[in-house]
Amino acid sequence: MRTKIVVGNWKMNNTVAESIELATAITEKVGKGIHCCEVGIAPTFLALHEVGKVIEWGDIALCAQNCHYENDGAFTGEVSASMLAAAGCGYVILGHSERRQYFGETNAVVNRKVKRVLEQGLRVILCVGETLQEREAGITESVITSQVVEGLEGVSDISSLVIAYEPVWAIGTGKTATSAQAEEVHASIRATVAGLYGQQAAAHLRIQYGGSVKPSNAAELFAMPNIDGGLIGGASLNVDDFMAIVKAAC
Ligand code: PGA
Repeated sequence: MRTKIVVGNWKMNNTVAESIELATAITEKVGKGIHCCEVGIAPTFLALHEVGKVIEWGDIALCAQNCHYENDGAFTGEVSASMLAAAGCGYVILGHSERRQYFGETNAVVNRKVKRVLEQGLRVILCVGETLQEREAGITESVITSQVVEGLEGVSDISSLVIAYEPVWAIGTGKTATSAQAEEVHASIRATVAGLYGQQAAAHLRIQYGGSVKPSNAAELFAMPNIDGGLIGGASLNVDDFMAIVKAAC
C-alpha cells in the first residue's frame, strides 16, 4: 500500500513573510489531523529556513524546488544538496519542466542532480512530462521513458524516489490531463521502473500527477490505481484549495 503524497510547489512566488504566513496556515490545518497522506511544501530557497521553523512541529515535509549537482564551489547563484540537507529539507524537486524549458536542463544534468541529492540522504521528486507537440506526434511514451531511464542512470536504490508525471501542456494552463490519460502514462512509468528495478521496487514507487490539479479534479485523479498524489503549483498558493486537494488524497 503506497501512502499518497501531495506537495505544493510554490515556484517563484511569495516573499519570506508571505511564505511564513502561508506555511503557518497550512501547518495549522495539517496539524488538525491529516495523517492519511504525506504533505510537503516547496517554497523558494530564500524562505526555506524560516518555513522550516514554522512547519517543524507539524507533519509537513520541507521541499526544495531545485539544486546544483555539486556540493560546493564556484557556482555563483546556486544552492547545493548538502546545504539543503543542512537546512532541514526532506525532498528536492528535480527536472521540473520549467527548469528543462527555461534553464536548459537536460536528462544528463537532471541525472547528476538526482545522484547528488540521494547521496546527501534527501529524497527526490523527479519530474517528467511531454510537451503538446510530443503528445500530438504520438511520442509521449518514448519521451517519458527516456526521461525516466536517463534521469535514473547509475541510481541503484529508488527507495527515496518519487516520480511526478507533469504533462507540460497541463502546467499552469488550466488544462488537466483526464484521469484516463494520466493513468495510462503512470502505468507506463511504473512498467518502465519495473523493467529497471524489478516489480517490487516499482510497486512501492509513488508517482504523483501534476498539471492544473484543483479541488474540483483532484479526487478523480487520485482515485486512479497508479496515481499516488499530486504536485500542485497554482492551487498550492491558496490554503483552502491546497487543503481541499490534500483531503482528496485521503
Ligand atoms: P500547476 O503547476 O498546478 O500550476 O499547473 C504544477 C507544477 O508545475 O508542478
